[in-house]
Amino acid sequence: MKRDPRESIQRYAEKYRRQVLVDKFGVGAQGRVVGNDVGNAVKAFERQPHYETEREAYRRIRKARLQKAGPFNIPELVRFDDDLWIIEMTVVNPPFMLDFAGAYIDRRHPFDDETMEAMHEAGEEVYGKERWEIVQEALSTLFGKTGIRLIDVHPGNVRFENDYS
Ligand SMILES: Nc1ncnc2c1ncn2[C@@H]1O[C@H](COP(=O)(O)OP(=O)(O)OP(=O)(O)O)[C@@H](O)[C@H]1O
Ligand SMILES: [Mg+2]
Repeated sequence: MKRDPRESIQRYAEKYRRQVLVDKFGVGAQGRVVGNDVGNAVKAFERQPHYETEREAYRRIRKARLQKAGPFNIPELVRFDDDLWIIEMTVVNPPFMLDFAGAYIDRRHPFDDETMEAMHEAGEEVYGKERWEIVQEALSTLFGKTGIRLIDVHPGNVRFENDYS
């Protein structure tokens, strides 16, 4: 089943009496992120598995008290709603790491060596060799502390200070 994130955000705002500021952030493949009147980001998901993966990621990040991986700021979980598939989190400035909806937690990723190799090359191309190494290191810190494997890495989700995305 799919949900309309716009509708969920509306209902969330009513439920918690929070004003939403639409269009502050992005509309992505799997959801929608808006700001609210207390300065947080509210992310609504279209699909339950993505919501659950991201919720689990933020729970682990909270449990590990991880506020940063390498130089990258990680949002802090503020509240989640299992009925609306919404996660409210703090807003972070770049350098940041966020968007764990597509992460692999407690399961192996399905990519073969060749595909992984191609993704590494693409990452090196997008970030440049030096920054890609910083990203790689941060990803292994994240994995080591939380068991979260972030594979789909691009400047939308893992962003340096003066990156464009
Ligand atoms: N907590 C936050 N702090 C600052 N910026 C944020 C935050 N959450 C989201 N953003 C901005 O909004 C964009 C979209 O958010 P996110 O990547 O989580 O959603 P998405 O791309 O819709 O999800 P998916 O990639 O799962 O489809 C991010 O690339 C980032 O620029
Ligand atoms: Mg994203």
